[in-house]
Amino acid sequence: MNAGPGHSRLVLNGRTTAIASPPGRRLSAVLREEFGLLGTKVGCDAGDCGACTVLIDGAPVCACLTPVAQVWGREVTTVEGLSAGKLSPLQRSFLAHGAAQCGICTPGMLMAATALLEKNPAPSRAQVEDALAGVLCRCTGYAAIVTAVCEAARPVPPPPAPRPGMAVGARIERLDGEAKVAGTEIFGADHWPENALLVRAIRSPHHRAAFAFGDLDAWRAARAGIEAVFTASDIPGRNSFGVIPPFADQPALAETEARFRGEAVALVAGDPEAIAALDLDGFPITWTPGGENLDPLTAHKDTVHSDRPGNVLVTGVVKTGDADTALSASAHVVEAEAETPYIEHAYIEPEAGAAWMEGEVLVIRACTQSPFMDRDDTAVVLGVAPEKVRIIPAATGGGFG
Ligand code: FES
Ligand code: FES
Repeated sequence: MNAGPGHSRLVLNGRTTAIASPPGRRLSAVLREEFGLLGTKVGCDAGDCGACTVLIDGAPVCACLTPVAQVWGREVTTVEGLSAGKLSPLQRSFLAHGAAQCGICTPGMLMAATALLEKNPAPSRAQVEDALAGVLCRCTGYAAIVTAVCEAARPVPPPPAPRPGMAVGARIERLDGEAKVAGTEIFGADHWPENALLVRAIRSPHHRAAFAFGDLDAWRAARAGIEAVFTASDIPGRNSFGVIPPFADQPALAETEARFRGEAVALVAGDPEAIAALDLDGFPITWTPGGENLDPLTAHKDTVHSDRPGNVLVTGVVKTGDADTALSASAHVVEAEAETPYIEHAYIEPEAGAAWMEGEVLVIRACTQSPFMDRDDTAVVLGVAPEKVRIIPAATGGGFG
């Protein structure tokens, strides 16, 4: 597709702007990487979570599903376009009602709510729930968000600072809330050093498979912009991690056998354009799938973890009181059998981060709640002392704020 003069432009947050990206690129990537509008978050990149919601001509859409050619000549509004120097009433309402906890879903919520309030300034709770149904939140339970949208037209002043001696139990506005409702909070995927290489993992498409690499050097040399390919044989330390040291049994990169679908077996590093354009069809790896067991009830007969008797990671004890005595003393007893399906709790933020060297220290800035465990794990894998690794926790999406 050829973008003729004047076609590859859009009105972005009120300003006419030229687009350099190719027409098929996702709008979410263009907003974030070409225009630096990092308030538009990318969670699933597949239209499921709604974190990337922006307005196109006033209507909410998932930017991750929108080729940028679809917005040529149209108006796009992102969370950055909501506040002209100060928070909008809706953003203030989110802050006042505690509707932003971790904040990763907040830009998407704000955009979907903005579209609703444009059409209906006084919606009912049911109408708000309907309008926000396409945006997932892991933290808030939604009630505070719905209240914030319903109350957007009735500004609430920030609560006064508690008097000395009265702070415990007093309600305060969260101190780091403004960045979350403005869309300026910096999560793991929102920061990368200038000229950084990107890393793409090669993952197992099989639940269980042996694998062997072909000529990785020739594959790399034939691709401009690809700087290196790393496999388990490049790991200088112990190829094992697991956050909680006694349970550490997962290789950083599988060595000869992948034990779950999606397990990383190699890393490809290159410049961003080369990585974005990478076609992995010819990646030199041969898979020999087989031997998986997807039944938890018979998994103890398996040998996926041959070093763990019965294939068991850990056993524990659940202590209960005397249920029979309690039931026999109850006025009413109801018996029922219930089953629940597997439910993913849908944290929105991808696991993401950046790494660089400062002298002899490897610095990693990433979304994590366990920086010291990550430091120790990384040092073990790299075969260096812990003080040669520094972990900087970014804002963490899905960490309940
Ligand atoms: Fe676009 Fe999830 S819906 S990132
Ligand atoms: Fe919604 Fe955290 S505040 S996902």
